[in-house]
Amino acid sequence: MSTVIRIFHITYSVLKILKNDFFAMKFIHLKRNASLLLIGFCSHAVAQDARPFTIPVESNNNAMVLQVDEKGQLSTIYFGKKLTHAAEYKLVPAAYKQTDDYSGVSNAAYSTAGTKNLFEPAIAVTHTDGNNSLDLRYVSHKVTPQGDDVSETTILLKDPVYAFEVTLHYKVYKASDVIEQWSVIRHQEKGNVTLQKFASANLYLKASRYWLKQYHGDWAKEMQPEEAPLTHGIKTLDTKLGTRANLFQPSVFMVSLDQRATEDEGSVLYGAMEWSGNFRIDLELDNLDNLRIIAGINNYASPYSLKTNTAFETPPFLYTFSTQGKGDASRKLQSWARNYKLLDGKGERLTLLNNWEATYFNFDESRLKGLLKDTKDLGVDLFLLDDGWFGNKYPRNADNAALGDWQENRKKLPNGIAALDSSAQQNGVKFGIWIEPEMVSPKSELYEKHPDWVLKQPGREEHYFRHQLVLDLSNPQVQDFVFHVVDSLFIKAPKLSYIKWDCNAVIYNAWSSFQKQQQSQFYVEYVRGLYKVLARIRAKYPLVPMMLCSGGGGRVDYNALQYFTEYWPSDNTDPLERIYIQWENSYFYPAIASANHVTDWGKQPIKFRVDVAMMGKLGFDIVVKDLKEAERKFCQEAIGNYNTWKDVIWHGNQYRLANPEEGSIAAIMYLDEKKSKGVVFNYLVKSRYDEGSKLPIRLKGLDAAKQYRLKEINLYPGTASPVPSEQVYSGEFLMRVGFNPQVNTTRTSVVLEINEAI
Ligand code: DGJ
Repeated sequence: MSTVIRIFHITYSVLKILKNDFFAMKFIHLKRNASLLLIGFCSHAVAQDARPFTIPVESNNNAMVLQVDEKGQLSTIYFGKKLTHAAEYKLVPAAYKQTDDYSGVSNAAYSTAGTKNLFEPAIAVTHTDGNNSLDLRYVSHKVTPQGDDVSETTILLKDPVYAFEVTLHYKVYKASDVIEQWSVIRHQEKGNVTLQKFASANLYLKASRYWLKQYHGDWAKEMQPEEAPLTHGIKTLDTKLGTRANLFQPSVFMVSLDQRATEDEGSVLYGAMEWSGNFRIDLELDNLDNLRIIAGINNYASPYSLKTNTAFETPPFLYTFSTQGKGDASRKLQSWARNYKLLDGKGERLTLLNNWEATYFNFDESRLKGLLKDTKDLGVDLFLLDDGWFGNKYPRNADNAALGDWQENRKKLPNGIAALDSSAQQNGVKFGIWIEPEMVSPKSELYEKHPDWVLKQPGREEHYFRHQLVLDLSNPQVQDFVFHVVDSLFIKAPKLSYIKWDCNAVIYNAWSSFQKQQQSQFYVEYVRGLYKVLARIRAKYPLVPMMLCSGGGGRVDYNALQYFTEYWPSDNTDPLERIYIQWENSYFYPAIASANHVTDWGKQPIKFRVDVAMMGKLGFDIVVKDLKEAERKFCQEAIGNYNTWKDVIWHGNQYRLANPEEGSIAAIMYLDEKKSKGVVFNYLVKSRYDEGSKLPIRLKGLDAAKQYRLKEINLYPGTASPVPSEQVYSGEFLMRVGFNPQVNTTRTSVVLEINEAI
C-alpha cells in the first residue's frame, strides 16, 4: 500500500519539477482520493501525507503561522510574538475553545467567495462560464532569502475545478518586524475572467478585544484620530476619491489587541495600503470574536477583466506588529521606511524658502531674484518657485487657468526658468519648481487641443475641484506628456534641484475615452499609469528631491514614497495645529519625509513656528524682508542649529514623550543610534491660566548607565535659559525621574540638545 502512495508521490514531484502546477494540482486530488481509500486499511497513511503542516512567516520578534490542512486549505493559526519552539505552533488551534466555525474556513489565509466562506472575501471572481465560485488550495510554497534581513515567502494556491491560481507573497523585513503582503492572480481559462474583488492581504487575529485607531480629515484638517473598540460586523476604511485619495481618509490605521495599547505598552498592529488611489480595508469581527482584516485596492466601480495567462499583481499591504506599544511599532516602521522604501531615506534633504504664501500668483522675475537673495541671506539651501509661473494664452494668475500649459509665462518670466536657475547659482543657492502635471484647467490650451485626454463623462456637466480636471493617466500618450513636462524642466534648467509635485483635484465623472469599453479598469489603470511615469522619471533622475504634495496631506502612502523624498502633511501650517498633524503622521512616517514650513499661519511667535517646523524637513514660506531684525537673527541661528542636529532628526530614533491630546504639553525626542546625542522639542499646547510643565518629562531610549548634559538651544535673541547646561544626569535619572524643560506661558516652546557627558 505504502508503495502505491510512494508512486503517487514521485509522480507528483515529477510534475512539480516540470513546473506543471495545474496538472500537479489535479494529480494531488487523485492522490488524496486514493489515500482516503487506503486509509481504511492503513492507519499511518495520513502521516505519510505529511499534512497538516505549518508555514511560519517569521521576523525577528513576530510570527504569522499558516497551516495547510489535509484538504490543502491554507489558514492562519497564529499571529503574534514569535514562540521559542516553532514545533508548538501546531498546538495553537487546540488551545482555543471558541464557538463553532461552521465553514471551517473562517481563518483562511486568503478567503474566497462563492464556496464555503461565510464572511467578506479577499477575492471574488466570475469565471468565463459565468460561475462565481472560487476555491483555493495549497500547491507549493518557497522561501527566498534576499540578503540577511529580508526574505520572501510565496505560496501558490489553485482552484481544483477552474484553471485559476493565486500566489500569495509575504516579504518579511526581519529587524523591523515589517511585512509587505500582496497577491498575484492568474488564470488559464479560455477568455477573460472578471475579478470582482482582489485584495492584497487577509489577516486573521485572535484577541479578547480590539481597538481601532483610524484617521479622517479634510483640507487643513488632515490626520484627525479616532480610537474605539471594534464591534461585530464590518468596519470599512476606504476612499473613492481616485487621486488625492486620503483627503478624507488615509489608509493608515492601528489595531490594539486585548487592551488599548499605549505609547510603551500593549500589543498593536499597524497597517497601511501601498496604493495612491482608491483603497479598501475591511475589519470584520466574526461570530468567533476573531478579527479578519482584508486590505487592497477598492473594488468600487472596478471589476477587472483579466486576460488568460496574464498576471494581476496587487499592491502591497504593509504591516508591523509590536507587543511593546505604539512607540516601538512606529520606530520600526520609520526605520523600515528609511532603509527600504522612502526614496533616499538615508540621505540628505534641502532646507528651502518657498514663495507660495509670500507672493501667491503675484510675482515677476525681478521679485523672484530678490527672493533668491533672501534665500541666501536666511541661510537655507534652495529657493522653491511655486504655482503661477506658466501659461501664456491663459496666464496662471489665479487658480482657474493654465494647468497643462507648462511654458513659462513670458510677462512674468521673460527669460524663462533658465535665468532663475542661473541666478540661483550666482547667489550660491539651488533652484526648485512647483508643478501639478496630472491636472488640466478647462481654460487651457491643453484642454482645447486634447479634450480626449481629460477625465469627464461624455454629455454630462463637468464638475471641477479647485476649478480643474484630471488628466487620463491610464492613457500612454498622457503618460508621455506628463513625463515630458518633468523632463523639459530639467532640459531648460539643468541645475534644477527640487520638484514640488502637487495634486489638488479628486476625480469626478470618472470616464476615460482611452479605456473605451473597459471603464471599470480605469481607477486601477490610472494609478498604474502614474507609477509608470514616476518610474520613468526616477530612471532618468534617480535622486532629485521631489515633494509629494496634494493641497495638503491628501496623498501620502508608501507606494508613492518610493518615488518621492518627502511629503506635505497639510496646508495648515499653524504651528499649534501642525504639532497634532505631525504627531499623528509620525506614527507611520519618518521625520525626514515630513516637509514642514514656517509660514504666517497661526498666532504663535516665530520661535514657536520654527521650532515646530524643525521636527522634520525644515522650510520657510514667509516674506523674509518683513522679519524684524531679532526675528531674522533668530531664524538664521535656528537654521544653524538645525544643520547641526538635522542628522539626528532625520536618521535617529523618534520617541514621543508627552502627548498633546492628553495634557498641556507636547514633547518629542530624537536620539542617534549610539544613544549619545539627541534633541527634545517641548511645546505648550493649552493656553489657560498657569499652564506649564508641572511634572518632569521622562526621556526615553537613553543608555541608563551613560551620563548626559542638557542644553537649551534656539533661544530667542535677548532671552536667557533657566536650564542648567553644566549639570550632569545619568540616563537612568532622565528616564525614570525625567527633566523639566520649564515650559510655561512665557516659554511656550523649548528645544533641548542632549549630549553624552564624556
Ligand atoms: C496647494 C499646495 O498645498 C500649496 O502649498 C501650494 O503649492 C498651492 N497648492 C499652489 O496652488
